[in-house]
Amino acid sequence: MDCPKIFMFLLLTCTAILIKYNNDGGSGKVSVSNVGLNYGLLGDDLPSPSNVINLYKSLGITKIRIFDPNTEVLEALRGHHDIAVTVGVKDQDLAHLATSEEAVKGWFATNIEPYLTDVNITFITVGNEVIPGDIGPHVLPVMKSFTNLVKSRNLPITISTVVAMSNLGQSYPPSAATFTPESREQLVPVLKFLSQERKPILVNIYPYFAYASNPDHISLNYATFNTEDVVVEDGPLKYSNIFDAIFDAFVWAMEKEGVMDLSMVVSETGWPSAGNGRLTTPEIAATYNGNFVKRVESGVGTPKRPNCSIEGFLFATFNENQKPAGTEQNFGLYNPTNMKPIYKLF
Ligand SMILES: *[C@@H]1O[C@H](CO)[C@@H](O)[C@H](O)[C@H]1NC(C)=O
Ligand SMILES: *[C@@H]1O[C@H](CO)[C@@H](O)[C@H](O)[C@H]1NC(C)=O
Repeated sequence: MDCPKIFMFLLLTCTAILIKYNNDGGSGKVSVSNVGLNYGLLGDDLPSPSNVINLYKSLGITKIRIFDPNTEVLEALRGHHDIAVTVGVKDQDLAHLATSEEAVKGWFATNIEPYLTDVNITFITVGNEVIPGDIGPHVLPVMKSFTNLVKSRNLPITISTVVAMSNLGQSYPPSAATFTPESREQLVPVLKFLSQERKPILVNIYPYFAYASNPDHISLNYATFNTEDVVVEDGPLKYSNIFDAIFDAFVWAMEKEGVMDLSMVVSETGWPSAGNGRLTTPEIAATYNGNFVKRVESGVGTPKRPNCSIEGFLFATFNENQKPAGTEQNFGLYNPTNMKPIYKLF
């Protein structure tokens, strides 16, 4: 299979960045990361957005994702063109936006237009894990209106949506994967539209949840990219980590719907550092997230798409104390109150 175009573009981009930094000859910059960070705001003890943007700059982060067009965050991003921003449309706005193209134009004029010249907005995501569900049917019409808008204005903004792996009914082995009947109805038209537009689907992939549901039968090393050993053989494809198996399961499920060439961007992955006993320690979280970063930087693809490098965002920048108690509050890389890393990663 040919790599979907976006991946080829990224490979070239990655190479260019590495060359740039290799030529940087001892300026003190230790690393640059192609991995994006999710910036969630569900906490009452979070640092100010301008301090957070300074943190991203100091880390060399070039991609962030925010879940709604938060004005304080977008204001803080003004002038930082080297940070590419993915902006989410709130799920609860989709029903209204689906009523007309005018509604989408109004939303864009309010939430995006004021920042277009100063902020490098590269993606707008229509809904976060709303397929399948009550809001799911609004995703396609709203995506179409946004796509018409950005095309008519020739803006370099990609329109997509974010989906969860719960759309997969069967997922093991990867080649047997299919979407659930409820998912098919809402998801497949969205996938076909994106394929036609040659834009990626954004997917949230959490090996942690697969592992946590069955820790006695899944090896921790297999869950955390911490072994080279082949754990699962699926025909000619060999798997040594769960991430690849889930990613490829989604690829197989798409292929069964006739969607052969759609690229995937990993909008979220991560591992909580607390909240579920021995399964969630800072050490394990550091191992998983560190290995994910290495994997993205390596440019290596999955067994089914070996030549297509992985583009992805870690979840999340901070622990968020207004999320449900337990692991949900503990996906952060940084402690919000002092901005110190919870474990060393970058
Ligand atoms: C990946 O690239 C290699 C080297 O260019 C090529 O031989 C191989 O066929 C490609 N694999 C796929 C699945 O496209
Ligand atoms: C905006 O982000 C994209 C994607 O990372 C990058 O290619 C582009 O150079 C950035 N734009 C500017 C003006 O830096």
